[in-house]
Amino acid sequence: MENGAAQPVIVAIDGPSGTGKSSTSKAVAAQLGLSYLDTGAQYRAITWWMVNNGIDIEDPHAIAAAAGKADIVSGTDPANPTITVDGTDVAGPIRTQEVTSKVSAVSAVPEVRARITELQRSIATAAERGIVVEGRDIGTTVLPDADLKIFLTASAEARAARRSGELKGADVNATREALIKRDAADSSRKTSPLAKAGDAVEVDTTELTLAQVIECVVTLVEEKRAGK
Ligand code: DC
Repeated sequence: MENGAAQPVIVAIDGPSGTGKSSTSKAVAAQLGLSYLDTGAQYRAITWWMVNNGIDIEDPHAIAAAAGKADIVSGTDPANPTITVDGTDVAGPIRTQEVTSKVSAVSAVPEVRARITELQRSIATAAERGIVVEGRDIGTTVLPDADLKIFLTASAEARAARRSGELKGADVNATREALIKRDAADSSRKTSPLAKAGDAVEVDTTELTLAQVIECVVTLVEEKRAGK
């Protein structure tokens, strides 16, 4: 665009847990003045609601029937991303071990994905300056027309070490096993599994610092904007 405001830019960042997706996405959005959406937090929020409302997580029909009931609201400021369910701040409760161990089962249910995907698209469309959306199926399913798609990877060892650090000294081996199990469930589900889009740029973060990953993604967005 000549002389006018920049066109909104939509950046999809996908990949398994522990690759630095959240830290990278927030920093890139902050640096470029874009909104930010953590779609994992939305799946965690609906899982938290299911657990709190006594829904049997082993029963996909019960989950499907309840999929539309929770009112999930995501704040998209990268400096202060918020998440509420029916008006309650759930930023802390969605990170418990209980929710983490149940989120793959809940997020595999097609009715849950349809509901959350719709929410994600409406948030992305409303972002005036553009948005960085992080998740597992953003480039493949939620926003297939995103301007830039990044797929972050890292070795299982590096991912487990990062997650254990975040969880303040949790056992690395146990964290590694739990991560591998969750990735396998997320990658093998029928409806929009964790997958790299054909036109995504893959960035292996195993040997990179967070600052290097952020710089790499910022450069890719700027190149896109410049039409390179
Ligand atoms: O990014 P996270 O670890 O907070 O995500 C939690 C879970 O949510 C993850 O195990 C799979 C699910 N998820 C998903 O199915 N699709 C997304 N776009 C994002 C997360």
